[in-house]
Amino acid sequence: MISANKSKAQTQNPEVLPQHVAVIMDGNGRWAKARGLPRTAGHKKGADALRRMLDNCSKSGIHYLTVYAFSSENWKRPSDEISDLMQLLQHYLHQELEILHEKKVCLRFIGDLSRLDLEIREQIAYAIKLTEKNRDFHLTIALSYGSRQEIVGAAKKLAKKVLDGSIKFEQIDEELFSGNLDTAGLPELDLLIRTGGEKRLSNFLLWQSAYTEFYFSDTLWPDFDESDLIAALDDFVKRERRYGTTG
Ligand code: IPE
Ligand code: IPE
Ligand code: MG
Repeated sequence: MISANKSKAQTQNPEVLPQHVAVIMDGNGRWAKARGLPRTAGHKKGADALRRMLDNCSKSGIHYLTVYAFSSENWKRPSDEISDLMQLLQHYLHQELEILHEKKVCLRFIGDLSRLDLEIREQIAYAIKLTEKNRDFHLTIALSYGSRQEIVGAAKKLAKKVLDGSIKFEQIDEELFSGNLDTAGLPELDLLIRTGGEKRLSNFLLWQSAYTEFYFSDTLWPDFDESDLIAALDDFVKRERRYGTTG
């Protein structure tokens, strides 16, 4: 078992652990329902699980964590749940920002933030500015995020640059395209974990996950703890990533 830098696999090859992990933090509602609680109670516990996850990733030597907090499709949920989620996000940012900054976490957001209230957008802008030079850990929060919209957005940006003459049509390649996505500059995504038992991407990081390893956990996100992360990492280190070659 991988325990804080002591896995057998890691001892043999320190490069075998993922550098960049993403999580679809799913199952908050079911966690609450099972306890006869409102869905918001599950989202609150979900925020605690994110705090834990960040520390556990750090302990395991992972420096990039990208989490799916709210999808572009989640705007279709009842307005009460949306406003509870937004309040929770504001509360999380308010409570955690100084702590994250002390831990030298660089905070980043991906998604269509224009759909958020001005107050939250200002809070996010402040958090990004405060932590932009931090380099010990990179936490990216996908908020109002949809990967198809992101890809269409990148195509539009490139089309505009061709039209205004700042790039030539022939220059468009995978690297340039990647550089116009919200995730520009982040390293390749090594491992994607989805909690809550569903086995789908739900419009998350479609371009970025071309050669990502997937791990599906039945654990509901509020219950996801260090042992679940270790199980995911143990599974990851056993895999052979062939990228289309014969290995
Ligand atoms: C994930 O948990 C959090 C968000 C989508 C905001 P859910 O709210 O989807 O929880 P389940 O899937 O209904 O249990
Ligand atoms: C995906 O979960 C989005 C987040 C975890 C933020 P959903 O619960 O919205 O996904 P579906 O509806 O089960 O596909
Ligand atoms: Mg869900």
